[in-house]
Amino acid sequence: MIRTRVTDMLGIRYPIIGGTMMWISNADFVAAIANAGGLGILASAIYASREEFGAAIDRIQALTDRPFAVNLNLFPAMRPIDNNDYLDVLLEKGVRIVETSGHSAPEDLCGRFKDAGLKWIHKCVGVRYARKAQSLGADIITVVGYENGGATGKLDIGTLVLVPTVVDALDLPVIGGGGVSDGRGVAAVLSLGAEAVIIGTRLLVTQECPIHDNIKRALCHATELDTMLIMRSINATHRVWTNASACKCAELEAGQADFFEEIYPVVSGENAKKMYTSGDTDCGILSVGQGIGICGDVPTVADLFDRMMGQAEASLGRFASS
Ligand SMILES: Cc1cc2nc3c(=O)[nH]c(=O)nc-3n(C[C@H](O)[C@H](O)[C@H](O)COP(=O)(O)O)c2cc1C
Repeated sequence: MIRTRVTDMLGIRYPIIGGTMMWISNADFVAAIANAGGLGILASAIYASREEFGAAIDRIQALTDRPFAVNLNLFPAMRPIDNNDYLDVLLEKGVRIVETSGHSAPEDLCGRFKDAGLKWIHKCVGVRYARKAQSLGADIITVVGYENGGATGKLDIGTLVLVPTVVDALDLPVIGGGGVSDGRGVAAVLSLGAEAVIIGTRLLVTQECPIHDNIKRALCHATELDTMLIMRSINATHRVWTNASACKCAELEAGQADFFEEIYPVVSGENAKKMYTSGDTDCGILSVGQGIGICGDVPTVADLFDRMMGQAEASLGRFASS
């Protein structure tokens, strides 16, 4: 069993964090990740009202007695979000771990995190952002390299360099990810000094993931070449699955199309939701990282985590002297 400062601080069995995924990290999926021994993180931005958000937390608490976290979104959003509302509700419900991620550190919220005694994880993509979050009082920093699915930022630093750079720069424990899709990746990122890994792409291809089976089947056959970067022209670079919508977005960007008139109708969350429920693999954007190339099957989350940790321990043991 691999025990680290992160597993101890968060009270989790495995050093595996199930990354926040918009529209996907709902109550049932978060509970599945928690019950499998990792940290599930509820995407608060899915929920448009305090009531719906509160009901999602109730549902997680009914499905698991393991720790879980709530993500507060700091990315620009089409729907105005006041994270203080989510914070009120999660504190009322007794949630103990909060994750923030986005374009800036939450200077306006961190006082409330500290006053409430929350464990605060901040996710970012570069050492300068990590230092800033540490100075604001974060308890754990997550960094994800350029391989990752979802927002990549603009620094374009790969996981192999980003993780040790941040580990060396901080006193805090670090969670590392970007491209971790099997136990060899877990062993690698822990060897770089991280005290847990974060995974997103690999979790898309699990039985409990709430996206249509058509998409899971197609992702099983995808390779590491089947992702692309979009939305760099609007300072919101995302690594996504190469499908018709992603190619359309890239074409519009190359032609300097207007965001609200032309690009947004292609990349909207509504299209993504339609894609996830209908199984139409082209009608929306799906964030996917390069690690999709080493997925290849659709296990339960519990089987995936057990397998990843067995493989990680075997990988780390390969070089141990007898
Ligand atoms: C489909 C999908 C949606 C995501 N949505 C979000 C999000 O809403 N907020 C966020 O902070 N990160 C988001 N991410 C990033 C993940 O939380 C995680 O950091 C990343 O997937 C880890 O890299 P990997 O995909 O290489 O495993 C998303 C990733 C994926 C694959």
